Amino acid sequence: MAARAALLILLAVLLFSGVVRGNAAGSCSSMSFPSNRVYAACSDLPRLSSSLHWTYEGGKGFGSLSFAFVAPPPSQSGWVSWAINPSGGGMIGCQALIAFRQPDGAMGVKTYNVTGYGPVSEGPIAYETSDLAAEFTGGAMRMFGKMKLPEGTTVVKQVWQVGAEVVDGVPQKHDFKPENLESMGTVDLLSGGISGAGSSASRNKNTHGILCAVSWGVLLPLGQIFARYLKTFKSADPAWFYLHISCQTLGYVIGVAGWATGLVLGNKSKGIVHTNHRNIGITLFTFCTLQVFALFLRPNKDHKYRLYWNIYHHSIGYSVIILSIVNIFKGMDILAVEQKWRTGYIVAICILGGVALILEIITWTIVLKRKSGKPKERPTFHV
Ligand SMILES: *[C@@H]1O[C@H](CO)[C@@H](O)[C@H](O)[C@H]1NC(C)=O
Repeated sequence: MAARAALLILLAVLLFSGVVRGNAAGSCSSMSFPSNRVYAACSDLPRLSSSLHWTYEGGKGFGSLSFAFVAPPPSQSGWVSWAINPSGGGMIGCQALIAFRQPDGAMGVKTYNVTGYGPVSEGPIAYETSDLAAEFTGGAMRMFGKMKLPEGTTVVKQVWQVGAEVVDGVPQKHDFKPENLESMGTVDLLSGGISGAGSSASRNKNTHGILCAVSWGVLLPLGQIFARYLKTFKSADPAWFYLHISCQTLGYVIGVAGWATGLVLGNKSKGIVHTNHRNIGITLFTFCTLQVFALFLRPNKDHKYRLYWNIYHHSIGYSVIILSIVNIFKGMDILAVEQKWRTGYIVAICILGGVALILEIITWTIVLKRKSGKPKERPTFHV
């Protein structure tokens, strides 16, 4: 049993290190700007190896966005573009900024009100812009600027693009590869949340949410129900123990994988820290790891310290359940999940809670019956 548990811990650690290593190449973590360009938040965009860095402040009458957009153009004489589309989600209607080497040889940024799929023409856009600048270093173009957004703006539809050619100061059409067609989505300027078709960020978030809900939210409480209620039945001994330990180890492994994806998400959105959610997550991981190690230190059933071990094991176990539920709700708030997921999870814990309640009643009935039948025997149901 000990060897199997050790193997599972090893597996969890390997899974964890794999997920973390996969993140190291992300441009948010490696990007550095000159000291006069400091941004509070950053998100790696899910397509075209690009990233958006920004500081957003609500102001009187408008929101003030200061940003940098970084992307590698397909060629030395190419262009990169970042846009907000207040109307639809695609190219038409984009209030675009395009950076490229201007006819005079210097890097520059121009604004475009994109009204069709034909050639773009420079012109005013719906938002007041200032301090536009661009540079081309290390194979990537960086576009900087400031923009005034309507008061109360938090989530905007963003579109970004790269192209290989500029002719006579006019950026030419981009490729039509999936990467180029899928480079759009929303960005929440306050929370840093990025969404988009098949975006890796939203995939990671879904992965994190599902892994955590299944492990912390379902498997661990289920395993606790097995331990608490099956124990009452003599015939279920030692089956309850194996059910309990299988649920908990499986929950632990999946939970650690979910926890690791959470750390990756945290790394990817620099400057946006969900302190409570993160701290509860770290506490949960610590508690559960303690539980696994406590297994090896478990005194024999009739050892005089077994009672203290039980108290310890149970109080950590119940704390984990409570903290998990709290953190899953916090997580759903952060990801702003649709109401149906919230409802689904509430239904799931109500079912688990209901089952536990019924079993609690049955258990006490059995225990009390046993007690009145054979007054000398201690009930099997105790801590
Ligand atoms: C952009 O073009 C559309 C369509 O021609 C027009 O309605 C809109 O006023 C233009 N926006 C700006 C800021 O010029």
